[in-house]
Amino acid sequence: MKIAITGKGGVGKSTLSAALCRSFAELGYNVLAVDADPDANLALALGMDTGDASKIIPISEMKDLVEERTGAPSGTYGSTFKLNPKVDDIPERYATMFDGIKV
Ligand SMILES: Nc1ncnc2c1ncn2[C@@H]1O[C@H](COP(=O)(O)OP(=O)(O)OP(=O)(O)O)[C@@H](O)[C@H]1O
Ligand SMILES: [Mg+2]
Repeated sequence: MKIAITGKGGVGKSTLSAALCRSFAELGYNVLAVDADPDANLALALGMDTGDASKIIPISEMKDLVEERTGAPSGTYGSTFKLNPKVDDIPERYATMFDGIKV
């Protein structure tokens, strides 16, 4: 199951996302929390301390990886890109375990 939470600024997206992550993890689900906001703070909303949270590299800064997977050079507009790039190896390479949640 994939759940995407989106909406206008400051309405509680990160708070709700963190609560859902914790609830599903408590129920025994294998939870992968992905913060696609360039100004990421889901790790903090989950309760991670600022030092550990700051070690997580935002997806928006992984320009080489995004280019490699989507085929779209960074900073170019109007180019075509893959809508379903390979991503299944990314959690293993970049995620941090926190309270039973992969962040
Ligand atoms: N149900 C709620 N009732 C009252 N305050 C809330 C509720 N949910 C979240 N908040 C508070 O509202 C503020 C914004 O919440 P949050 O950061 O989750 O929003 P966001 O949609 O992720 O914001 P952004 O668009 O900046 O990423 C926070 O201070 C949070 O504690
Ligand atoms: Mg947010």
